[in-house]
Amino acid sequence: MTAPTGRALYDVERVRKDFPILSRVVHDDRPLVYLDSAATSQKPRAVLDAERDYYELHNANVHRGLHVLAEEATALYEDARTKVATFVGAPDREEIVFTKNSSEAINLVAYAMSNAATAGPEAERFRVGPGDEIVVTEMEHHSNLVPWQMLCQRTGATLRWLGLTDDGRLDLGNLDEIITPRAKIVAFVHQSNILGTVNPVAAVVARARAVGALTLLDGSQSVPHLPIDVTGLGVDFLAFTGHKMCGPTGIGVLWGRGDLLAVMPPFLGGGEMIELVTMEETTYAAPPHRFEAGTPMIAQAVGLGAAVDYLTELGMDAVAAHEHEITAYALERLATVPGVRIIGPPTDVDRGGAVSFALEGPDGRSIHPHDVGQVLDELGIAVRVGHHCARPVCLRYNVPATTRASFHLYSTRGEVDALVEGLGQVRRFFGA
Ligand code: ALA
Repeated sequence: MTAPTGRALYDVERVRKDFPILSRVVHDDRPLVYLDSAATSQKPRAVLDAERDYYELHNANVHRGLHVLAEEATALYEDARTKVATFVGAPDREEIVFTKNSSEAINLVAYAMSNAATAGPEAERFRVGPGDEIVVTEMEHHSNLVPWQMLCQRTGATLRWLGLTDDGRLDLGNLDEIITPRAKIVAFVHQSNILGTVNPVAAVVARARAVGALTLLDGSQSVPHLPIDVTGLGVDFLAFTGHKMCGPTGIGVLWGRGDLLAVMPPFLGGGEMIELVTMEETTYAAPPHRFEAGTPMIAQAVGLGAAVDYLTELGMDAVAAHEHEITAYALERLATVPGVRIIGPPTDVDRGGAVSFALEGPDGRSIHPHDVGQVLDELGIAVRVGHHCARPVCLRYNVPATTRASFHLYSTRGEVDALVEGLGQVRRFFGA
């Protein structure tokens, strides 16, 4: 996705007016420069209004009542499901399962796989035990690593992973050795939250399919930024979260292929996920309700529906092109700051707008990211510092932590300039 530098893809200043928080000042008089959208995106007024409108006018529980509010709430909740399905190109709206966040979506599949031990032959593809392998990559967020480590502990399966190249790419050199016929599932990230790398989904999926393994893609950092079509991606599951795509916190999504969800054992038991219950046993509802035990996140789903409407109106091609342009500009400008070392792909090819870096002071000593973050914050610039819930990546590149600037549809070149100017001040501060 390329956009000629400087071409106006949409009027970003007009778009910014949709986000009330972006006109805030911090520390008395500093205009907010929000470069932490990979942690959570800001929310447009349309999303805030949708949630308030839901509570003010329609609030009731869903799928349970016959009264008018219950019917309206159910319709709004189920409309959100339809919007999300359309947004990611799901062939069937019933393939969309609402969860709390991406972590819960991934845990849902991981726990369903260990629950398969108690299911019938229809769940064979999910059954995991000693001798089976679970494959991830070294660039996973902890949310797509820890659930699989735990699955291995529960079942006796073995965890394997694809490593990384020095320039922040997935190392596919030993793909066939790591993904073997013993692999039950290959779970990998689409766009890294720490490196920004956009992974070659087709190559990984082709190998996984060739050996009969399931595939799960962590789309937490891609669905908010790129046009997504689950059929084209060819994966079996896609996990993503609302709060990084201009929606509320507390709502995430698991998309799963209909034929797989139909035979996948449940994760959480409780209300609304059942078909028939006696004191002795229970039969389960069809998907997606089998996987949505208890009262769901109704207002949050409605808010997510509004976020999807907002992104669709702007156009995901335009969003992706805008962010690509800002990311390319950031990489170019950061390269001019003495002492900056990009941790991740240094070019704008197959990379998204999460840019991590290490910084050295004029004396050649590294400045700790927490110090970088604190000085930037005093200037009104919000970045994230730390291991970004992807600690194995820091170990791989031998850094204790990184400073990360991350962009979204509302980010501007002026904000990149502010960051570059701020890093100059950080270096002066620590060089004194
Ligand atoms: N996963 C989020 C991040 O990368 C919280 O910051």
